[in-house]
Amino acid sequence: MTTSTAAPDIRVDDLLDEGGSDSMAENVRAGLAAEPKQLPPWCLYDERGSALFDRITELPEYYPTRCERAILNRYAPEIVASTGAEELLELGSGVASKTRALLYAMAGAGTLRRYVPFDVDATVVERSAEELTTLYPGLAVHGVVGDFERHIEDLPEPAGRRLVAFLGGTIGNLGPPERAEMLARLRSLLRPDDRLLLGADLVKDPSVIVAAYDDSRGMTRTFTANALRVLNRELGADFELDAFEPFARWDEAHQRVELGLLARSAQRVRFAGLDGLEVAFAAGEKLLTEISSKFTRARLEHELVEAGFRLERLLSDEDDLFSVSVAVPEEAR
Ligand code: SAH
Ligand code: AVI
Repeated sequence: MTTSTAAPDIRVDDLLDEGGSDSMAENVRAGLAAEPKQLPPWCLYDERGSALFDRITELPEYYPTRCERAILNRYAPEIVASTGAEELLELGSGVASKTRALLYAMAGAGTLRRYVPFDVDATVVERSAEELTTLYPGLAVHGVVGDFERHIEDLPEPAGRRLVAFLGGTIGNLGPPERAEMLARLRSLLRPDDRLLLGADLVKDPSVIVAAYDDSRGMTRTFTANALRVLNRELGADFELDAFEPFARWDEAHQRVELGLLARSAQRVRFAGLDGLEVAFAAGEKLLTEISSKFTRARLEHELVEAGFRLERLLSDEDDLFSVSVAVPEEAR
């Protein structure tokens, strides 16, 4: 574990340092052997990927951020008052811009003690730690760089009553079995007075969804294609960036968007960092980078209950596009 103290109230632990790069490489190897071929999330979110995602959130078509921000701005004081939260732990925190509504409400209620941003991209954890300690002098920030599918058990001990935020709809980037595991892991992390705040995108007219992921400025295409740059840099791959075409398509059967890259022609890609592994792509073959699942209220409640939560509140924006749930850990059955 690398622990650095960049300022009196900032500490950042890098859990990916602990043999992480090996298992990250092995995740890629496993994904390339799957059918269809797929990539883990760290391939999308390096410094450039996080910056590109931040620009996506500002696109007029990308409603999730705008809607979730509206919900948090409106309900943060109520959420904070009802949970009495002293610590905000945020999974997949990114640039933590919407988080500010929660921290502001906690500061206003006089309960704010510590913020724990947890993300696979070190650059966003460090940046948000610096920005937020400037904004809230006296706020302690304990950042964690890690994979929330592997490192939840290694998080710091709570500094008080915890609100665990998993925002942005990132839960929808996991498939059903991974979501069930993730929610169960979160359930075991929470103590009786802690609460989960879960942002999830709602099912709606598919044309609205497709516009958000196949945006007119091509920002999402650039974000998706960034995965190939990351693989070239981190795993010594020799992807030709123009040889793959980014795509985003609505999968009606699974109620989710599929994003990825299509090989423009048959080709082989070599990974020096994976012991010289050579991977063959057929013309038109898909390399899946992400899924983005959309939820009905019933499905959300079902998945939360299955994981051992009770849905206390399900809030949505005025157009009913996006949701934020407050979930309570049920007593172990
Ligand atoms: N919560 C922010 C950012 C969403 S983007 C928002 O709502 O705008 C998704 C974030 O989750 C990215 O910052 C990405 O780096 C992070 N992420 C994705 N998969 C992750 C994983 N397995 N472990 C930790 N962080 C992850
Ligand atoms: C982070 N996550 C919730 C985004 C989403 O909407 O699924 C990622 C994204 N990919 C392309 N656009 C946005």
